[in-house]
Amino acid sequence: MKIKSAEFIMSNSNVNKAPKEAIPEYAFIGRSNVGKSSLINMLMNRKDLAKTSGKPGKTQLINHFKINNEWFLVDLPGYGYAQVSKKKRTIFQHFIKNYFKEREQLACTFVLIDSRHDPQKIDLEFMQFLGENNIPFCIVFTKADKLGGASLNKQITAYKKELLKYWEALPLSFITSSSTGMGRDEFLKFIEQVNQDIANNFK
Ligand code: GTP
Ligand code: MG
Repeated sequence: MKIKSAEFIMSNSNVNKAPKEAIPEYAFIGRSNVGKSSLINMLMNRKDLAKTSGKPGKTQLINHFKINNEWFLVDLPGYGYAQVSKKKRTIFQHFIKNYFKEREQLACTFVLIDSRHDPQKIDLEFMQFLGENNIPFCIVFTKADKLGGASLNKQITAYKKELLKYWEALPLSFITSSSTGMGRDEFLKFIEQVNQDIANNFK
């Protein structure tokens, strides 16, 4: 898919105030600092469309971007960021979960996992939550440039093996690097296909 336009629409903490347009929407979620905002910039070929930072906790709101005037990308705050107060974390978790429960135009959720890390409880629990709420998701392994080919494969194989303890079938997964652009074509192709499938269903 060719990216012709990518525009920031709005930020908010309340899903009820999010754009009403019923166009396909794709959300990016995962631990703080996993690379959600960077991946959005990489996909859109833009440096600063989504705000990134070396420090976790940069994205704090639900951010809508409209792509090619046809679909939304949503940059969300990370979960599992230990440095914010417990009260603030609870508010975060509440509005993130609300977003997933309420957003009917959500076509697919991308759960980002740092490819260097072993499976973590918080990510597995989040996928469980998506499953229980019938929210389709893919896994996106990030920061692949930080591992060599052999250890990257080893990590990903081990991750999938762990997932098969909880899931009958593996979700679709992508291996990406926002630094090198790895995975960009496959990722955009997938979104294009889902957009097409949705359009065909409405014909
Ligand atoms: P929050 O908004 O805090 O939840 O974080 P986030 O998941 O949006 O992460 P962000 O995109 O801000 O990236 C966090 C840090 O990781 C930044 O310093 C990025 O430069 C770095 N980073 C992100 N993706 C990659 C990648 O693919 N490769 C490398 N080497 N660094 C990356
Ligand atoms: Mg972010």
